[in-house]
Amino acid sequence: MMKDMEKRLNKIFDETTEEELSLFKKAAEIIKAEGLVAFPTETVYGLGANALNENAVKKIYEAKGRPSDNPLILHVSGIEMAESLVHINETAKLLMNKFWPGPLSLVLKAKDIIPLSTRGGLSTAAIRMPDNRIALEIIRISNLPIAAPSANKSGRPSPTDAKTVRDDIGDSVELVIDGGKTLVGLESTVLDITGENPILLRPGAISKEEIEAVLNVTVLFSQDENIIKRSPGVRYRHYAPNIPLMLSDVENASKYASGKKWAWIGISEPKGTPNIKIIFLNTNEYAKELFRVLREIETTKVEVIIAEKPEQKGIGLALTDRLIKAAGN
Ligand code: TXA
Ligand code: MG
Repeated sequence: MMKDMEKRLNKIFDETTEEELSLFKKAAEIIKAEGLVAFPTETVYGLGANALNENAVKKIYEAKGRPSDNPLILHVSGIEMAESLVHINETAKLLMNKFWPGPLSLVLKAKDIIPLSTRGGLSTAAIRMPDNRIALEIIRISNLPIAAPSANKSGRPSPTDAKTVRDDIGDSVELVIDGGKTLVGLESTVLDITGENPILLRPGAISKEEIEAVLNVTVLFSQDENIIKRSPGVRYRHYAPNIPLMLSDVENASKYASGKKWAWIGISEPKGTPNIKIIFLNTNEYAKELFRVLREIETTKVEVIIAEKPEQKGIGLALTDRLIKAAGN
């Protein structure tokens, strides 16, 4: 592991209090005993189990109601653990050193140690090192890679706080660890680096441009059939609020509402008078709060959500991707 990463991690672990440590140990015990633990990461909350144990992984699919051919991301505590799971190439090394711990999941050739059920029957597996002290401590103490999808029922928005996790899947987990609101609010970038050119399978906080700057090659990203087939998760119907959602610019907002009770979400003032108006400070806040706000608006009498189309750079691309999915397109 790189020296600076090691130093940073030591500092992270130094901050853990005795009380927290006993909670993390309890979580690690549950993981080792084939149980489920929900915990925060920097992106969204995860529903974790021992990635190397078929029984444990099966419980994740059951709790979420997730199709069994949709593979899970393995969360690791560092490069060494990653090496025990997948074949690491030069591209992977560059990206890990630059972006880990952080919201970048790398799809690589899997080693046999990863059960097929964890990787949805594929020859590859996605791994990432989360930038969250609680997540890292549980992985480190259990000394196991933790398979963790977002801790929501399939088809619901990813949870960004512990209360939402409890409401959604609280009954099926042994422990929910509350680490406050997550920092990023959207799931990690998923990048396939098994081929000549990296393929962006899911945009996230680590942007295409940032990855290209490190690798000096073009990252492919398209809604192309073949690419979609490579990331099984992309095939499934994603979260759509039970109220219709439409993307719009400021000018056309009230036109799209067409006389219905409407909510506006975005970073600018809309034309017209929405029944609910939520204006974020900037695109980062828009991304961070999106899932929480959508769940909140669902509880009101609003009939349509008009979402401002984000700028097409940085986190704006990931945000647009989630909004398009929420719109059901
Ligand atoms: O930020 C995140 O990634 C969160 C937190 C908890 O870490 N996790 C998360 O997991 O979003 P999930 O299961 O909701 O999404 C995993 C995505 C899916 O789109 C899945 O298809 C893709 O990663 N994936 C996993 N393994 C893959 C593989 N071997 N090849 C292609 N895509 C893969
Ligand atoms: Mg998910």
